[in-house]
Amino acid sequence: MKRLLIATGGGDCPGLNAVIRAVVHRASQEKDWEILGSIQAFNGVLWEPTEVVVLDDEKVSGIHFQGGTIIETTNKGGPFSWPVKDKDGNWSTVDRSDDMIKKLQYMHIDAVINIGGDGSQTISQKLYEKGLNIIGVPKTIDNDLSSTDTTFGFQTAVQIATESVDKLVTTAASHNRVFMLEVMGRNAGWIALNAAVAGGAEVCLIPEFPYDINKVKEALEERFHYGRGFAVVVVAEGAHNKNGEMVYQENKEIGYENKQLGGIARKLISELQEAGFKHDMRETVLGHLQRGGVPIAYDRVLSAQFGVKAFEMVLNSEFGNMVAYHHPEFVAVPLKKAIAKPNLVTKKTALMKTAKGLGISIGI
Ligand code: F6P
Repeated sequence: MKRLLIATGGGDCPGLNAVIRAVVHRASQEKDWEILGSIQAFNGVLWEPTEVVVLDDEKVSGIHFQGGTIIETTNKGGPFSWPVKDKDGNWSTVDRSDDMIKKLQYMHIDAVINIGGDGSQTISQKLYEKGLNIIGVPKTIDNDLSSTDTTFGFQTAVQIATESVDKLVTTAASHNRVFMLEVMGRNAGWIALNAAVAGGAEVCLIPEFPYDINKVKEALEERFHYGRGFAVVVVAEGAHNKNGEMVYQENKEIGYENKQLGGIARKLISELQEAGFKHDMRETVLGHLQRGGVPIAYDRVLSAQFGVKAFEMVLNSEFGNMVAYHHPEFVAVPLKKAIAKPNLVTKKTALMKTAKGLGISIGI
């Protein structure tokens, strides 16, 4: 019997369970594979006692439309930066990757599938360099991984953001207001841009293009005539003024290295008021509603394709690669290439040209 370990790392994302189920169902056709899931990314392997679960057909039955991940996840720490408490009570990190590889050998693990975004795939690459038989599956609602046409979970987030724009349009029109809808997107504005186009927003502000508040004001004023009018602005959480920086709170959770973004919609309202914009404004922060809940059909299908292909890459010993969607095929790309640069919106992005053609202002 051979053994495969699955881990889900980073923020959760609709479709994680559908990938797990696809790997398990495909593997069970081979008869000689046992599949284990490590609880909370690789923590389950590193913890004493170990926390892993057996994933068989029965365990994964019907999970393809469940949100979250049945093996839990974390975006704190990891084998290369394991948090430890020093004698003085402060926290620091240690590299436990060698311990982990030894533990995996002791557990007779032949291969690992790591489902995660850029941070998790950076860990995959480093583990591969240490000799681990590992394959990556690209996960992120932000769609910021290059080397794949798209990541699972992203379209579900776009759907949720678009439905929110639709809802805000009716209340904005009824009250002659401007609504700021803050969506996720740390460094990449894909969710915001897609939701703005799909929902018919007037302004879309994304991290890739720091905005000029006077341009935003001008675009919004065009929507008002004799005091009447309305508009919806879709703003990515990582967007910022050309003279400022991202809005975030310091996060004190042990091992959490990200900036905790949030608050740009409120800041935008203050900046517009300071710039002399007089109409009513309100903000809605969508937050984790974009990450929870069921994946839409597109993401379930994509997750199933990623899962089946990832297991077939294990069978072919294509380690050190990430499964990627290059329409219409699913292919293996080196992890090193997959993490080399993020997938960001640029002026050449086709959807940017569409947004411009529709008259959506991006505030520059
Ligand atoms: O990376 C995906 C993402 O959804 C970002 O857009 C967001 O900034 C982050 O996760 C939020 O993470 P957390 O759940 O740790 O607050």
